[in-house]
Order: sequence, then C-alpha cells, then structure tokens
Amino acid sequence: MKIVYTKGLKRSVKFSLFLLSFFTLIFVSSCEKDCEEPPVDNSDPLDEMISLLDLQALPEVSHPANNPTSPEKVELGRLLFWDPIIGGEKDMACVVCHHPGLGYGDGIDLPIGVNGSGLGIERTENTGGLDLVNGPIGRVPRNAPTIINAAFNGLTSSNGYDPSASPMFWDSRADALEGQCVGPPGSRSEMRGDAYAEEDAMDSIALRLNAIPEYVQLFESVFGAGNAVTVENYTFAISAFERSIVSDNSPFDQYVEGDLSALNSDEKNGLILFYGKARCSNCHYGPMFSDYDFHALGIPENPINPNAPDMGVDDEYKFRTPTLRNATLTGPYMHNGMMESIKDIVEYMNAGVSANENVTEDMLATDMEPLGLTENEIDQLVAFIESLTDENFDTGVPESVPSGLPVGGNID
Ligand code: HEC
Ligand code: HEC
Repeated sequence: MKIVYTKGLKRSVKFSLFLLSFFTLIFVSSCEKDCEEPPVDNSDPLDEMISLLDLQALPEVSHPANNPTSPEKVELGRLLFWDPIIGGEKDMACVVCHHPGLGYGDGIDLPIGVNGSGLGIERTENTGGLDLVNGPIGRVPRNAPTIINAAFNGLTSSNGYDPSASPMFWDSRADALEGQCVGPPGSRSEMRGDAYAEEDAMDSIALRLNAIPEYVQLFESVFGAGNAVTVENYTFAISAFERSIVSDNSPFDQYVEGDLSALNSDEKNGLILFYGKARCSNCHYGPMFSDYDFHALGIPENPINPNAPDMGVDDEYKFRTPTLRNATLTGPYMHNGMMESIKDIVEYMNAGVSANENVTEDMLATDMEPLGLTENEIDQLVAFIESLTDENFDTGVPESVPSGLPVGGNID
C-alpha cells in the first residue's frame, strides 16, 4: 500500500507542477498585452509549455564491449537474417516476422511461422507444402514486435544504457540481442518445425553454415580465420545487423533538436496531453517512450492464441511497455495483436476499464482510470503518436543468400 501511495503522490506532484507552469504561462502571456515593455518573443505558447518538459532525443547506439560493429559484420548479419537456412525446415527466416516493408514487424496479430506461406496479411497457415512429422503448426502465441530501434531496449533516459543487458520480448525474458537471437531457431512454431530437437537447434545451424563455403569465407573475413562459424559469432553478426536498424529522425526528434515547426499544433497539443491529462508518459517515457517495466492493461485474450489465456509476467497479466516509435507502421498492437489502430488504443485508455475478465480492477495498472478525453483530444493524441514515425531506416534486401534458398523464405 505504501508503495502505491508514494507512486501516486509523486505523479500528482509532477502533474500539479505541470499545471502550475501552464497557468503561469497563461498569466505571463496575458501580461504581454498590458505590460509597459512587452517581450519581443512572439513564440508559440505551446512551445513554451513543451519546453518545460524533459524531452529527450535518442543517443548514439551503444555496442557491447565484446561485439563492436563493422560494416562487414552488419552485412553478414543481414544475410543470416534473410536466410531460411536458419529455419529447421528451410522455409523460415527472421525476416518473415520482422520485414522491412512491414516496419520490421509482420503486420498480423499472431505470427504464422513454419509451413506458412506469403507475407503480412497475405500469409496463411499450413500452406507451405511440408508434411510435418508432429502434425500441423498453430499460431505463435505473441505479436511480433518491431526490431527497429531494439538496439535501444532498456534505455529510459538519454544518459545511456547497457546493450549487453537490453531486455528482449514482451516479458523481457531474454537479455540483449545476442541472447535473443538463439531463441526463435529453437521454437517449433517460429522456425524449427520438426527438423531437430530444440536443444540441438543452434548446433545444427552452425553445422549447416559450416558446410556453405560462402558463409565460411564471410565469417572468417569478419571474425578471423579458423573455426569462425560458431554459434557465438552467429549471435554477434545478427545483433550487429539489428543494431544498424535505427530510426531517430521523426518529426518529434526534429522538434526536440530545435526545429519548432516540425510539429503542427494538433501534434503539440497531443504531446501536452500525452505528458499531462492523458498520463501516457507515466509508462511511455524517455527517448524510447517506454519505462521497460510491466503493467496489466486488461487487453482481451486473442481467441486464436493456442496458449490463451496468456498470463504474462508473474502470471499477473502484465506485459512490458512497448516503444511508441514507429507505431503507425507496426499494427496490429499489444502483446497479442488485439488492437487494430492507435485510435482504438487511445479510446481504450480513455475508458480505463479492463476488457479481460481475468484482469480484475485490483490487478489493473493504477493509471488505468477514465481520463475524460474529448473526441478532439483523442485525435490530437493520435496525431502526436503519428509524429513519432521516421520511415528513413535501412530497408535493404539481399539479392541472394549464401544457402541459395529463396531470399526470406516462403514469403512470395
Ligand atoms: C514466426 C515469427 C518470428 C520469427 C521467424 C522470428 N521472430 Fe522475432 N519475434 C517474434 C515474436 C512473436 C516476438 C515476441 C515474442 C515474445 O515476446 O514472447 C519476437 C521478438 C523478437 C525480438 C525482441 C524485440 C523486443 O523489443 O523485445 C527480437 C530482437 C527478434 N524477435 C529478433 C528475431 C531474430 C533475430 C529472428 C531470427 C533468428 C527472429 N526474431 C525470428 C516473432 C518471430
Ligand atoms: C500503466 C502504464 C501505461 C500507461 C499509463 C499507458 N500505456 Fe500504453 N502500453 C502500456 C503497456 C504495458 C502496453 C502493452 C500492453 C499489452 O500488450 O498487454 C502498452 C501498449 C501501447 C500501445 C501499443 C504499442 C504496440 O506496439 O503494440 C500504444 C499505441 C500505447 N500503449 C499508447 C498509449 C497512450 C496513447 C497512452 C495514454 C493515453 C498510454 N499508452 C498509456 C503501458 C501503458
């Protein structure tokens, strides 16, 4: 109880300070008319309000000490990311679920992995022509997050972060990109199928890569001659590639860097609501718009989820706050893809009520309360979130992959 009280107090103090400064501003600007010497400053009062907030741009990407980057390493990682040789049945590459044309997500609620065919909303289950020993494969139980800016996971202030401990997944169960990228190849539904046992997945893949002369040569040129094709070097190359997929020049970023015209007045009003009345910034803060903490929002279960109900972290239906950068590109939303649009989400938060019968009032995040936003304010919030989009990230597609398999797997 004490902790909840302190948290609530902090928030309301923060909020009152914000309101106080708002009214001070109105006071100051009304004085402008009557005062003897009006300040020559004719700036937008919205900008003055926003300048009181501690807005932060993204820093440079940090690399773990044991995995410095290089252009050659990034390009090797890109090939591995696109090569279905990483899939047990040779039909799945990382890119099926993290495609540059889909904001490095997959555009559907729950991913379709092994033995699917097609890409995005065109992708269908069990249509890849495989006859799997252990029967058909269901959906992957959680929504595929984007890998754009996953390099910054864990960053809650521009002071920096430890890239070798970056939290990964909706429940942060993996550490760092290096730790994450050995997971999907072992998952039956995501990449493995019935080709080998889960515990043999990475060793089997290393054997496969070692048998492809072009990979041996590429690994040796990046990591040095002699036994270069190892599981560890696979993790280094894929992670270096992922750390190169960065998007940090949205209209919001341009605004933070000093171009006050980069946001229009709807976006500025949305920003002010985001950090004030709508309370979004209590969880979505810092340069990544995430506290990297877990909260229960009571999102309804996805009826097609083979693992429903998904009880999340500590069986409390909590999931990690996702980044809001590039959210316009990465719908459908939430850990199970149950929200179609950003507007749906703002309306859901505005209602402030659980939509999941397993998530009772006392389990729900304390910030989930009716917000009293008007229709216009909802639209302004949506406009602000759209201003966090920067489509100028690397979308490069390799012309071919060293295995000679179809680039990206069974996605045509
Ligand atoms: C069949 C779809 C699928 C494939 C293939 C796939 N992923 Fe994912 N990816 C997901 C899903 C779903 C999650 C979230 C899982 C969870 O949170 O439990 C995820 C999460 C991630 C994350 C964490 C992002 C974050 O912000 O927490 C990274 C990084 C990632 N994948 C990279 C990869 C790499 C690298 C590969 C290839 C080795 C790969 N993925 C293959 C579906 C896929
Ligand atoms: C109590 C913390 C909290 C507050 C307050 C909060 N969010 Fe979130 N937000 C989350 C969490 C946690 C998720 C993921 C929930 C899940 O998947 O079950 C999320 C998901 C989202 C998503 C989906 C992103 C994606 O890629 O799936 C959007 C958009 C979003 N929030 C916007 C907002 C807006 C706008 C507000 C203010 C009106 C807000 N949030 C307030 C914690 C919060």
